[in-house]
Amino acid sequence: MQQINKLEKAYIKVENGLIADYGSMQDCPNYEGNTIDLSDHWVMPAFVDSHTHMVFAASRHNEYVMRLQGKTYEDIATEGGGILNSALRLQEMSEDDLYNYAKGFVEQAMLCGTGALEIKSGYGLSVEAELKMLRVIKRLKAAMPIVIKATFLGAHAMPKAYQYNREAYIQLIINEMLPVIAEQGLADFIDVFCDKGFYTPEETQTILSAAQRYGLPAKIHGNELGLTGGVQVAVANKALSVDHLEHLSEQEIDCLLQSDTMPVALPGSSFFLKIPYTPARRMVDAGLPVAIASDFNPGSSPHYNLFFTWSLACLYNGLLPEEGFNALTINAAKAMGLQKTHGSITVGKTANLMVTKAFNHMNELPYWFAQNHCVKTFKVK
Ligand code: NIG
Ligand code: FE
Repeated sequence: MQQINKLEKAYIKVENGLIADYGSMQDCPNYEGNTIDLSDHWVMPAFVDSHTHMVFAASRHNEYVMRLQGKTYEDIATEGGGILNSALRLQEMSEDDLYNYAKGFVEQAMLCGTGALEIKSGYGLSVEAELKMLRVIKRLKAAMPIVIKATFLGAHAMPKAYQYNREAYIQLIINEMLPVIAEQGLADFIDVFCDKGFYTPEETQTILSAAQRYGLPAKIHGNELGLTGGVQVAVANKALSVDHLEHLSEQEIDCLLQSDTMPVALPGSSFFLKIPYTPARRMVDAGLPVAIASDFNPGSSPHYNLFFTWSLACLYNGLLPEEGFNALTINAAKAMGLQKTHGSITVGKTANLMVTKAFNHMNELPYWFAQNHCVKTFKVK
């Protein structure tokens, strides 16, 4: 987590969008092609944002004020606000409007140095609206110059109409949503919000077993609101990642140590909801890797600037600057299955790079908080 290799006065050679070579300037071979002089700058791998809900219909500023007045995130969800509120708005919104709104956010995130992105569905909560969301993500994949991965999160909240018949909604996911999604190639991953008041580990298992038939790897929302078995069900299903983990006991840490599942901390939602921060320091000291992501969404984390996420991770998750950097690049790439192509400057990987001005020390990147240090990105799929 702490190791970062740096070269001063260096060159990077890019061919066909791939990193073809790099090294010290004194060893730089003569080169006839296009060159870009980035003296007095730093070049590093672009950030990978492995957990976002970037497609949604509208902000939830009213709930933000309700929380300022003393309500909790769970109170608001129980009263039909929260994710259910976002779902109602999204069901009414046209596919084109949704696309244009989301595209603006993707562009903003890219300007902040994000070079690969995961986007979840989960604000549809009906067959039609979940498919609509996933089609919007598919359009973004095709139109934007960065890699985007789509995650099907039909089990994000329980729609009101199914409150007393949960099994029927789960069957809808399994029988009506998953087969169409698989047939139309609309998702790369499956997610379930396995937490207090949302989906139980048993329900999560039922959905993951069905998704397995379509070869969809899991990325799980777990342990945001309590010690609810999310980690165990994620690990049992060889999930790519398990995200949130604001509540984590030694038992979960041991379980993760036995697995290849990447734990992902989302400090933006801890900050915005004023809930505990994922104990990343404790996790790293126990020998775990950690990734961090923005969790960009209108309810719990309306931010996409990963430099800010990095600062939060240092201040409140207890990571050191180098650990935060690895958590946002190579480990985040692993959390979305992109470790072979993204997350580091390695010969053969995509030349997905970002440029900042040269600082005195790398510590300054998270130190100057709430800034966008990215001055240029090279975006390659
Ligand atoms: O990651 N925890 C579940 N899902 C989102 C929040 C969604 C919402 O409140 O709209 C999250 O925090
Ligand atoms: Fe999330």
